[in-house]
Amino acid sequence: MIELANIDKHYTLADTTFTVLQSLNLSVTQGERVAIVGPSGSGKSTLLLILTGLEDATHGTVSIAGQTLNTLSADVRADMRREQIGIVFQSFHLIPTLTARENVALPLEISGHAQSRQRAVELLDRVGLSERKDHYPAQLSGGEQQRVAMARALVHEPALVVADEPTGNLDEATGEAVVQLLFDLNQDSGTTLILVTHDPELASRCDRTLRLHDGQLNQVTP
Ligand SMILES: Nc1ncnc2c1ncn2[C@@H]1O[C@H](COP(=O)(O)OP(=O)(O)O)[C@@H](O)[C@H]1O
Ligand SMILES: [Mg+2]
Repeated sequence: MIELANIDKHYTLADTTFTVLQSLNLSVTQGERVAIVGPSGSGKSTLLLILTGLEDATHGTVSIAGQTLNTLSADVRADMRREQIGIVFQSFHLIPTLTARENVALPLEISGHAQSRQRAVELLDRVGLSERKDHYPAQLSGGEQQRVAMARALVHEPALVVADEPTGNLDEATGEAVVQLLFDLNQDSGTTLILVTHDPELASRCDRTLRLHDGQLNQVTP
């Protein structure tokens, strides 16, 4: 379902070029659950941005569901992301003027879904936020905002979910609820999961763990 071939990513700041990813390859099949680990600054978030077409690689190709992202226009990429990918970033990108429920319903409203409100409430319930659905992001804690972002990423049942440290700000019980939601979706709908995590327990529930080091991915388990 996803194919990254020979990816290089350089950032140039002032006159210095930093290499973040170098000749990186990754192949993930539909329904697979992949954990990505690695020290801070190793390029995990950059990798997720490239994988979802939000950032261009310096060299190399990214294909999702047989389509090579580099050959698609920005609009087509955006459509593809909206329909097929659920993304949870470290910064949650919630819309401050919309309530939790409205934030979660937004992807459905954009695609003209009939029961967007009901479905948003259902998802908020699953992440333990039924009491918070009319709160605005500023009225929610970091962990609550993270769960709203998770609900929004999953509300349209994407074929691929990409999450950057999905349990990072959560206590054990809430983290478990969010992880359960992800794995239920994988089980029930064959959703592919690509999870950046520092949590060994979460990594161990995935089919394999890859470590990002020196710009490349190496298999740690199984
Ligand atoms: N937009 C950017 N411009 C310049 N350097 C960046 C940018 N984004 C990330 N980097 C650099 O790339 C490296 C990898 O960052 P990141 O992907 O956020 O790592 P991780 O998520 O593993 O902590 C870091 O050294 C960071 O400073
Ligand atoms: Mg990061």
